[in-house]
Amino acid sequence: MHMHKFEKLWLIFGIGSLLVFLTVLGVSAFYMGNQPPSCLTTIDPEKIDKTKPFDKPGLHKIEGQDWDYELVFVAQAFAYNPGKVEIPKGSKVKIIATTKDVIHGLEVAGTNINMMLEPGFVSEKVATFNKNGEFLILCNEYCGAGHHMMNSRIEVVE
Ligand code: CUA
Repeated sequence: MHMHKFEKLWLIFGIGSLLVFLTVLGVSAFYMGNQPPSCLTTIDPEKIDKTKPFDKPGLHKIEGQDWDYELVFVAQAFAYNPGKVEIPKGSKVKIIATTKDVIHGLEVAGTNINMMLEPGFVSEKVATFNKNGEFLILCNEYCGAGHHMMNSRIEVVE
């Protein structure tokens, strides 16, 4: 019968599309899911307090590098250390961050700084702070009951 033939074609087309879709999904999940945040440096989450530079969270002047300061953040549910930091305007800053417990985010609102912090990995990002004012740091990965309260502040000063 004619109808039967058409139905069979549609079925084949449908299954074919589904397979293509699943393959694309599988491939992208593989590429995105198995990579650490933004660099390959690893860290023992148990020893963060004793591991450089995380033994001294905060802003540090750096000599002989491409950047002026290093800004070290340690995240844990539900806070960042430091909870507030002042950066001199125009500074080139390398943000270095990790987490003590679960996955957290580190997004500086109003900038393109948006990092994912994964336990066991160190995330880094170099940025220049040219605009005066206060910038809110937010966690953009759901990390538990206090997720929405998790924040820090960057104050860019003259
Ligand atoms: Cu930390 Cu959400």
